Amino acid sequence: MKLLKTLVFLALVGVAMAAAAIWGGVYNVGADDPHWSATYRVLEVARTRSISVRAADIQVPDLSDAELIRNGAGNYSAMCVTCHLSPDAEETELSVGLYPRPPRWDALGKVDPREAFWVLKHGIKASGMPAWGKSMDDRYLWGMVAFMQQFPSMTAAQYSAQVAASDGHSHGGGETDVGGGDPHAGHDGKNAERSSFEPVDDPMAPAGDDRPADEHDSEDDHHH
Ligand code: HEC
Repeated sequence: MKLLKTLVFLALVGVAMAAAAIWGGVYNVGADDPHWSATYRVLEVARTRSISVRAADIQVPDLSDAELIRNGAGNYSAMCVTCHLSPDAEETELSVGLYPRPPRWDALGKVDPREAFWVLKHGIKASGMPAWGKSMDDRYLWGMVAFMQQFPSMTAAQYSAQVAASDGHSHGGGETDVGGGDPHAGHDGKNAERSSFEPVDDPMAPAGDDRPADEHDSEDDHHH
């Protein structure tokens, strides 16, 4: 009985300390403050196991189907390059700012197709990876999986050619204009047509760097 009382007391002290730490804001949720390596390893195992268990029974369609790949190319370049990049893309504000960092395109080509499909459809909690299954039918998701499987041997020229030959962002309705509503539009005239997820350059850089002078003109247009 005495032992039981002691254990209950210790458990309560533990809960109280945890509550005090949470309320005291001890835990830093900032994306620029990486996990401890032990925490990271535990989360990594949890993520890997969660995905592989759930993806195990998924039936994979014929990923060499040219039409599937063609459709995937347009959707990938419209919705994924901003985070996962492509053979012809530089780092973007999202690709460097997110934590966990989005894996690069070349890494995506090596993911098991069932697992890639599962992640694409359901997303990953508390990371930047959205659940695309909420807006897209499975066959369009498979299109992107099929396209990603081509990545390991793909050059920048082949990537651009595949995207040019596709129908762009198309998945049977409900597409949003991913590149539109550009919050950066006009922060430097020639970028008005560029996606909001522009490659990282330094718009606050002092004049005198290697960019043409007209890019520095209207400082008050910078909304960073
Ligand atoms: C806003 C950023 C963002 C966008 C847009 C995005 N992703 Fe992701 N994606 C991530 C992040 C971050 C991860 C890693 C999550 C983690 O490790 O917990 C990820 C993970 C993945 C993975 C799993 C990789 C692995 O090693 O298991 C696949 C596959 C993937 N994304 C494909 C896509 C595709 C295809 C698209 C476009 C439809 C897309 N993503 C759009 C941020 C993004």
